Amino acid sequence: MQFDLHKYIYITMKMKLFLTNALLLLSLIIAAQNIQITHGPYLQAIGEEGVTVVWITNNDAISWVEVAPDDSNSFFSKEHPQYFDTQHGRRVVGKLHRVKIEGLKPGTSYRYRVNSKEVLGYQSYHVKYGVVASSNVYEKELKFTTLNSNAPEVSFKVVNDIHDRSDVMGEMLKDVKRENTDLVFLNGDMNSWVDSEERIFKGFMDTATTLFASEVPAIMVRGNHEIRGGFASRFPDYFPTINDKLYFNFTHGPVHFIVLDSGEDKPDSSIEYADLVRFDEYRDKQAVWLKEVMETEEFKNALYRVVIVHMPPVASTWHGTLDLQRKILPVLNNANVDIMLAGHMHKYSYTEPNSMLKFPVLVNDNNSYLDVKADQKEMTILVKDQKGDLQHKHTIKK
Ligand SMILES: [Fe+2]
Repeated sequence: MQFDLHKYIYITMKMKLFLTNALLLLSLIIAAQNIQITHGPYLQAIGEEGVTVVWITNNDAISWVEVAPDDSNSFFSKEHPQYFDTQHGRRVVGKLHRVKIEGLKPGTSYRYRVNSKEVLGYQSYHVKYGVVASSNVYEKELKFTTLNSNAPEVSFKVVNDIHDRSDVMGEMLKDVKRENTDLVFLNGDMNSWVDSEERIFKGFMDTATTLFASEVPAIMVRGNHEIRGGFASRFPDYFPTINDKLYFNFTHGPVHFIVLDSGEDKPDSSIEYADLVRFDEYRDKQAVWLKEVMETEEFKNALYRVVIVHMPPVASTWHGTLDLQRKILPVLNNANVDIMLAGHMHKYSYTEPNSMLKFPVLVNDNNSYLDVKADQKEMTILVKDQKGDLQHKHTIKK
């Protein structure tokens, strides 16, 4: 048998190519399996003494956040306090990570890094861990600033009725930074329905995170459309609040904010809701809660009282609106409210106080945003279109 050198070289080269490709494929598979942060981190439940950081990983993990002072020292100058994702005393193993940071100082800036250690296997008395995925502190040190009821002024922005058009929202909020905006309110119907985690992020939260939400809190105000869909009951898990409810109140600077959850627009028995909702009772409870809030010194002593709600109690004769008129409006009419900011109608309107209404109601349309600043003398509300051009201006003097 004769040795064929050419054939030998050819087969060797083929084998080499095959092995190279196989190794490349293997490394790609390993890389794909490695833990990664797929969404976030973004800030929620901001307060004077704390904040909650939320993010998602592709694989199961345990998570924690390191918090450092916002000073000139390196992030690695020393060990920093660590805050863990726990539930009932146990560290949470999962893909949705929510870490509550407490014990901070009001009106103070901090740096932070999120970390997730992959859980590869879990048996009764043995857990196998993988590597740690972290936010990239070398590339950018993420920061947040706690709220401060003694701050002389506040600035915030409001968008609503985005209905999954993340590009439209991105255009309106592209200039939001920690330096120019304290808070952003996402005033409902950010999704058209909620059938998956992916929809929440693709519809608006990925864009919000890329633009600002890692450093400026995006406060979710649930709309009626976020109540719809097979994943809707999980929606609140992604937007933790200071009281674990979707209606809550807090003060920042001269403004006391009341966030309400207006619920659905049609009667609870409507076939569209498939026997899944009970919003009449829910609005009753909010009215009781609202009366309690009104009795607090924090509420009474605020220079401004601003109500943020998706569905207004005016401008419609649908059941949800009328139920708000019956239950919420009489309470708010006794509360010295300066203004209510709403959406839902996809059309701008400004209703002056009248015999039924003791405060103005500004309904923002679905292609504009509110740019609001308030100090000790006045609150200015600028309604701007996607290009940032001024459409309407309202001023509240003190
Ligand atoms: Fe709506």
